[in-house]
Amino acid sequence: MHFFKTLTSLVLGLSTLASAATYTNPLKAKDGSDPHIVWSGGYYYLMTTTWTNLQITRATTVNGLKTGQTKTVYSQSSGARSGNIWAPELHWLDNAWYLYFTAGDGKDLGTQRSHVLKGGATPWDTFSFAATLTNFWSIDATIVRFSSWGNYFVHSCHLNGSPQSLCIAKMNSATSIGASKLLSQPTLSWETVDTPVNEGPAALYHGGKTYITYSASFCWTTSYSLGLLTWNGSGDPSLSSSWSKSGPVLKSANGNYGPGHNGFFTSPDGTEIWNVYHATANSAGACDGNRYTMVNKVNWNSNGTPNFGTPAKLGTSFTGPSGE
Ligand SMILES: *[C@@H]1O[C@H](CO)[C@@H](O)[C@H](O)[C@H]1NC(C)=O
Repeated sequence: MHFFKTLTSLVLGLSTLASAATYTNPLKAKDGSDPHIVWSGGYYYLMTTTWTNLQITRATTVNGLKTGQTKTVYSQSSGARSGNIWAPELHWLDNAWYLYFTAGDGKDLGTQRSHVLKGGATPWDTFSFAATLTNFWSIDATIVRFSSWGNYFVHSCHLNGSPQSLCIAKMNSATSIGASKLLSQPTLSWETVDTPVNEGPAALYHGGKTYITYSASFCWTTSYSLGLLTWNGSGDPSLSSSWSKSGPVLKSANGNYGPGHNGFFTSPDGTEIWNVYHATANSAGACDGNRYTMVNKVNWNSNGTPNFGTPAKLGTSFTGPSGE
């Protein structure tokens, strides 16, 4: 009897384990660059850079995104936002979903600007063009929210002759921003490999702290990696003096080169924060459609700071986000 009970609980335990969702990386093997995921209303929504249009994939599990329902929500055959379509991000603001992205005329990378589409009550609704947010070179825009200061637009730009840096502007609304200021310039050795670059910002909120991760160094190198800015909690967020920098906090490992351009999303039950980023198997580094999409849970150090871990060998099996 005792043996039987033990056996029963063992079998039950195993079946519970087996029913917990698992996943393997990569989620998207090709054109997995600049990934962004949100969890909302029972679905994960994944977007990546395809260069030619904006596509949304949805699924109820992270592993399901590999074969999720996919649709194109934006494309243009010609014009000022028809080419080099990069870095799409979904954000809920002013009671609607907005889709921020980078695009230019497709001929000259100097024409890259930040744009936004307005959607509806779910990310699966139709989007229509709302605004171009900058009249100067700007890529990789994201939103950073402060309870006492409002929403800020953080993007990568050149200001006053700076190298490619993180820039920050107060948002007047979802479709209008104020003047940009320099937030973080690439100055440290790990931010300046081949070319000084700070790009791909993403906001992270945990334990009452506000962080911004970003990607540093030239994307065609294996030194492309994540850096971390930590807000001091009281200073004007648009002043670089209110932030401290550390890094790299995620770098090449286990055959994954140049991990970067990440985003964060929450688990279905809201208890975990997950990191989605791209990397390449090209040991020389890559900045093209060969980059694949990876996800990993964010862990927390005893002093409260985020621990992004190490990109594991492709194909390693992990437990999916809590609540799947
Ligand atoms: C935060 O930074 C600002 C400068 O932007 C400074 O005036 C303020 O004293 C700092 N606060 C803390 C708690 O370090």
